[in-house]
Amino acid sequence: MSRLVTGVRSFSTAASSLLIDAASSAVRSARQPSSFPVFRDVPQVRQLRRQLLKNDRSVGFVPTMGALHEGHLSLIREAARENTDIFVSIFVNPTQFGVNEDLSSYPRTWDADMEKLEKLNEELANAAAAASSETTTGRISAIFAPTAKVMYPTLPPSSEVDGNGSFVTITPLSKKLEGGSRPVFFRGVATVCMKLFNITTPDRVYFGQKDVQQTIIIKRMVQDLHVGTEVRIVSTSREADGLALSSRNVYLGDRRRAVGLTLYKALKAAEEVYRSGKTSRADILGAARSVTDRVLAEQQALSPSERALFEADYISLADPDTLDELDLVDRSRGAVLSAALKMAPLEETRDGERCGLGGGKVPVRLIDNLILQPQQ
Ligand code: PAF
Repeated sequence: MSRLVTGVRSFSTAASSLLIDAASSAVRSARQPSSFPVFRDVPQVRQLRRQLLKNDRSVGFVPTMGALHEGHLSLIREAARENTDIFVSIFVNPTQFGVNEDLSSYPRTWDADMEKLEKLNEELANAAAAASSETTTGRISAIFAPTAKVMYPTLPPSSEVDGNGSFVTITPLSKKLEGGSRPVFFRGVATVCMKLFNITTPDRVYFGQKDVQQTIIIKRMVQDLHVGTEVRIVSTSREADGLALSSRNVYLGDRRRAVGLTLYKALKAAEEVYRSGKTSRADILGAARSVTDRVLAEQQALSPSERALFEADYISLADPDTLDELDLVDRSRGAVLSAALKMAPLEETRDGERCGLGGGKVPVRLIDNLILQPQQ
């Protein structure tokens, strides 16, 4: 049964003093948030979690790698609708970056992240004040921002395909789609999520639909390894024109952003074909391909200072549980339509051009998907 929550002030004395104790032993960072503690190590998280359990409170967990955007905030808002307390982790996980992927250039925006989370907690507090007693309106109760040594306490985190370490591998799902060009990616994701779930023992965990393969792998892991949490998937947050929000969009700049929208347009064209009643791979993916091929040809015809080149890594029509490629969509099951575009670095930039973080030189991988809904 849901109940009105008024946040820290509604804690029992023991729980609220625990939060204060926990906060005082939390990390002193560049920017220290005031409405929730930031923990760098596991015991404080466990201590708070135990106290919340004793007080019959529920925990929704939102794992992130920071560089927070509206998509992350929508996961937290959803968690606040279903839980009294929300834990958010911020950890740029080294084992999900391949040896050739640049872990060090992943955007790290701690101060801006804390500002966004504090503002959101205020918003949630106001929503709680306005809500009826039947509505659960949780708050962010803790940020977990561990070091790599905390998360990988024995061996150093390895990104090698045959590297040593204690890993969670979910096959064959991890080898498909994104796994084709990023062989260690889902091993790293599953491993870090399993660790984070073990540390936070949440009632529910929240993931964005945008990373559809990640959501399917996490659901499989939770089922196969009997993890006692519910997996909630929240729909993709998009810009007004449809571009899916991603921490990596900061690298795009105006030119690559405009061309990168091709990914969404291609998926929408394919979805339209399915909605019109067609179910064959050739018809559905043909529509997506014709969009990417046309835009690529247009770009190739431009000069290097005007164009943005890209490569479609994959365009997939797959089963929603197994991610097996489909020749024909079974209307009673629907399908996952997904694609990845590799936006190449700009060849030449113009004076005054807004090229994004890294000056247009950072290759950007864009992924997106649409669910072809089952139909009766
Ligand atoms: O989606 C992400 O940001 C990451 O893959 C996750 C789930 C936080 C694991 O590092």
